[in-house]
Amino acid sequence: MSLASVIRTEGKLLLPTYDRHKILFERGRGVYLWDSRGHRYLDFLSGIGVNALGHARPAIQSTLKRQAGRLIHISNLYFHEYQTELAQRLTKISGLERAFFCNSGTEAWEGALKLARLYARVQNTNGHKPKWRILALENSFHGRTFGSLATTGQAKYRDPFAPLLPGVSFVKFNDEEDLRKKFDSSVCAIGLETVQGEGGIRPVSRDFLRLAKKLSASTGALLILDEIQCGLGRTGKYFAYQHHDVKPDIVTVAKPLAAGLPLGAILTSNRVASAMHPGMHGTTFGGGPLACAVAIQFLRELDKLLPHVGEVGSYFMARLEWLKAKAKYSCVRDVRGMGLMLALELDSADLAKSTVADLMQRGILINRTHETVLRFLPPYIVGQQHVDRVIHELDAVLLSNTSTKPKSYKSTVRSKS
Ligand SMILES: Cc1ncc(COP(=O)(O)O)c(C=O)c1O
Repeated sequence: MSLASVIRTEGKLLLPTYDRHKILFERGRGVYLWDSRGHRYLDFLSGIGVNALGHARPAIQSTLKRQAGRLIHISNLYFHEYQTELAQRLTKISGLERAFFCNSGTEAWEGALKLARLYARVQNTNGHKPKWRILALENSFHGRTFGSLATTGQAKYRDPFAPLLPGVSFVKFNDEEDLRKKFDSSVCAIGLETVQGEGGIRPVSRDFLRLAKKLSASTGALLILDEIQCGLGRTGKYFAYQHHDVKPDIVTVAKPLAAGLPLGAILTSNRVASAMHPGMHGTTFGGGPLACAVAIQFLRELDKLLPHVGEVGSYFMARLEWLKAKAKYSCVRDVRGMGLMLALELDSADLAKSTVADLMQRGILINRTHETVLRFLPPYIVGQQHVDRVIHELDAVLLSNTSTKPKSYKSTVRSKS
């Protein structure tokens, strides 16, 4: 099917939820993707943080092939061997003790909220009203289902679906005073992304995170960290909270966990997990043998790549800073992020939009988040040469968009293959 006929047919058949770029992708290998016209793209978005190992990694392909030939699904009514091994690996790297497997980020976050409410109820042995309020952060994003939306601190996602889950208050980002003001003994959980992703790549400050831990521990409330985008190696450590020496009570992960297959997880302590009993929570697909076998292989690969993420991430950050320091780019507002979760904030939404489009024309995929923020989530296998190419093209695009140079000066750097 051609791109034109896919666009035409989708327009008639699908819910109009996505405003897709007009590219039909056909295959990928390593850091590159190829479209239906044979154009090659350097992938600096990795399917919004999912393809952390790049495309068609041989170790993932062989695990997929082997497991698909043995067992794909059995339901959670029976045992298979992979949930245990995956849980062993995830608990080891997170410092937590228990896992629950599901299918997506939002499902992991929903489960975490349920667990926090349940734990508060079970802890409530003195006859008072159990803790039930949840504190979340302004500008956050936790997913599209109702509980996740209710804790997402951005009106554009929430408002069309109101009324949402009651009991959620929003704290100003990194504002310790506001956190102190809004926290009290009715709060069962403080939930936040260690690095806000959709909100424009904003790392939470160490002091704010430590205060959230201290306050929650002081009343028996839980600290829940959403590491769906920033976790599993993205920032150069297994989890972003490990940069701050703070241990959450619950952490949620998803995106890269099964290298492109849908899989999410809730990780928690024995103490919190003890509130849960059979029948209280579950899923049909979550934690199936295929996804779990692939996730085990993903974590093996991650062990090898983790130091590289830190190194190449620092290099990338320095190159973005270099770009920002160029006097001619007064349009660059900020450079932010950790590891390979980086952002360049521009001073206008239109400029950010056209920059993404122009980079795509030059064979580079990134995206725009929070209107004005260019987001970079490359696969962990990128090298300095790939970073240099992105900086070179970004430099040219910003130059063409911020000077009087005619746009026709753009080169076509795509190569065919
Ligand atoms: C931090 C964070 N939490 C939750 C989600 C929701 O994940 P999913 O789209 O897999 O439901 C996302 C997705 O972008 C995310 O970035």
